[in-house]
Amino acid sequence: MNRLLLSLILAAPVLAGAAPSSQVAWTAEQLNFVKAGNAQKGQALATSCASCHGDIGDSATPAFPSLAGQLPTYLFKQLQDYADGSRDNPLMSGIAKGLSKQDMADLAAWFASQPASSEASGSADLKQAETLVTRGDNERLLVPCEVCHGNDGEGQKLDIPALAGQKAEYLSATLNAFKDGSRHNDVYGKMRLIAKTLTEKEIEELGAYYQSLK
Ligand code: HEC
Ligand code: HEC
Repeated sequence: MNRLLLSLILAAPVLAGAAPSSQVAWTAEQLNFVKAGNAQKGQALATSCASCHGDIGDSATPAFPSLAGQLPTYLFKQLQDYADGSRDNPLMSGIAKGLSKQDMADLAAWFASQPASSEASGSADLKQAETLVTRGDNERLLVPCEVCHGNDGEGQKLDIPALAGQKAEYLSATLNAFKDGSRHNDVYGKMRLIAKTLTEKEIEELGAYYQSLK
């Protein structure tokens, strides 16, 4: 692994000069606000999410992401991004606009406290995906996914989501959205830069790979 390259990709604001990709800044105040989210209140609010995301955020629909076990800070950021237009989706944008910041923190606390699910994937051969996740690809200057998303796809603090057990179809769709730029709420454009180098087949396999991780 080329250390210099890695630090460049991790640190460089690749889209310098462009409008900020998100309005959420992780100040101590913002972080404490999310940490103080009330899961019990979130549970009550979450009944309106169940038809798409499942009772505890364990989605039963391949195109709809699971929320159970996700990092609360990531969930909060996405809701905020939908609400202020940093991330667009015909189903989610209107819903998020109807939530207060307190609702978002409470919902984030509730879904984060629920157990993440996992399911086997249909794809037989995920060797290539595994190589990308654990070793990356020097030729494409591609950092291993696990550097950021964790050895078990468990995510990392703040805005780096857990991917383990997430719906394969959703994972691939959102990677394609990063690739074509229709999803652009990733700070410094890191995921867009990465997704651009991936082929259609790799994107499909990566989705299946992460869905099958426990
Ligand atoms: C009508 C179906 C529907 C309902 C109801 C709904 N969602 Fe969603 N949600 C979606 C879809 C579809 C996506 C993926 C959209 C995309 O690709 O941007 C999504 C994405 C999300 C994401 C981003 C997940 C990720 O991994 O990036 C969060 C967070 C979220 N929803 C929270 C909620 C909450 C909280 C509620 C209830 C207040 C809710 N949703 C209600 C359909 C729905
Ligand atoms: C430099 C760190 C970094 C690396 C390396 C990285 N990611 Fe990400 N990834 C992120 C961040 C940060 C986000 C959240 C962006 C946002 O705020 O919406 C993200 C989001 C995602 C999402 C969206 C998840 C969701 O629930 O919507 C997927 C899928 C994803 N990454 C897959 C990958 C794959 C596959 C690789 C390897 C090919 C990879 N990532 C490498 C930082 C990284």
